[in-house]
Amino acid sequence: MTQQTKKQFQKPEMTVEELQHALFEANQQLRMSNLALQEQEAMKNEIFSNISHDLRSPLTALSSSLEYLLSLEDFTKEQAEPYLNLMTTKVQGLGKLINDIFLLTTLENASHSLTLTPYPIGVYLEEVFFLYDADPSFSDYPLTLDLPLDFPYEVLLNPENFLRLLDNLMQNAKKYSVPGSSIVMGATIDSSNKEVILFVQDHGIGIPESLTSKIFQRTYTVSDARTPGSSGCGLGLSIASSIATLHGGYILCESKEKEGSTFYVHLPLYNH
Ligand SMILES: Nc1ncnc2c1ncn2[C@@H]1O[C@H](COP(=O)(O)OP(=O)(O)OP(=O)(O)O)[C@@H](O)[C@H]1O
Ligand SMILES: [Mg+2]
Repeated sequence: MTQQTKKQFQKPEMTVEELQHALFEANQQLRMSNLALQEQEAMKNEIFSNISHDLRSPLTALSSSLEYLLSLEDFTKEQAEPYLNLMTTKVQGLGKLINDIFLLTTLENASHSLTLTPYPIGVYLEEVFFLYDADPSFSDYPLTLDLPLDFPYEVLLNPENFLRLLDNLMQNAKKYSVPGSSIVMGATIDSSNKEVILFVQDHGIGIPESLTSKIFQRTYTVSDARTPGSSGCGLGLSIASSIATLHGGYILCESKEKEGSTFYVHLPLYNH
């Protein structure tokens, strides 16, 4: 009898029951992976369809305004002005959307990393705050900077990129509030002295508690926000979240409907 045939008659390492069990487990795992893939595919399709919708609707408004203006034999500046203003807004919205899609894909590219340098976060926040304080589009929203007098902490920062994160939070704070409602920007240190926590707080419409983590998903908008006229595409918070991740941090949201929301950005403290 050859060596090989001998081997065939050796006692199997697993009993039939054990083999059946292993097969069952493997099958279960395959089914779970398949389900996860199907979910991912459905999410991708939804994102694609939301983005297509957000690209198509301003184009429709643009082409019908153009068609209307071209159909007139003659028109005065006053007659054309509302259409030109509408077209400008739509073109700006399209530009923002295209920039956001580009930024998000760049940030989510696995090989992407940011150049980070140690930065005194209190000084940085003051600089950013004064940008908004001087911004006429925020003039109807009383702004407060809530920063301890002595805040000597440093974090690793890409100042330009981090401004995109804060800007998304500040624009949301304004967009989802009514004029006259105050917005607070601030920073604090966590109790274990390991993280700096930046926050943006508004007193606007708020978010149902069950949705405070969903809003970070790409193109997710709380249903009534995705209404005609709302310029939100649901990319701002996913961009903010990717930027926080690239800084070694994360964002949390606390909110109460009709009372307002606070977004907390946790960043690791830089130790020399
Ligand atoms: N401060 C806030 N108050 C209430 N709802 C908010 C606030 N910030 C975000 N949301 C909700 O979360 C959703 C996702 O926010 P996100 O910033 O990602 O998208 P967006 O503001 O709709 O569009 P954009 O891509 O222009 O930022 C918003 O559509 C809104 O429903
Ligand atoms: Mg937004």
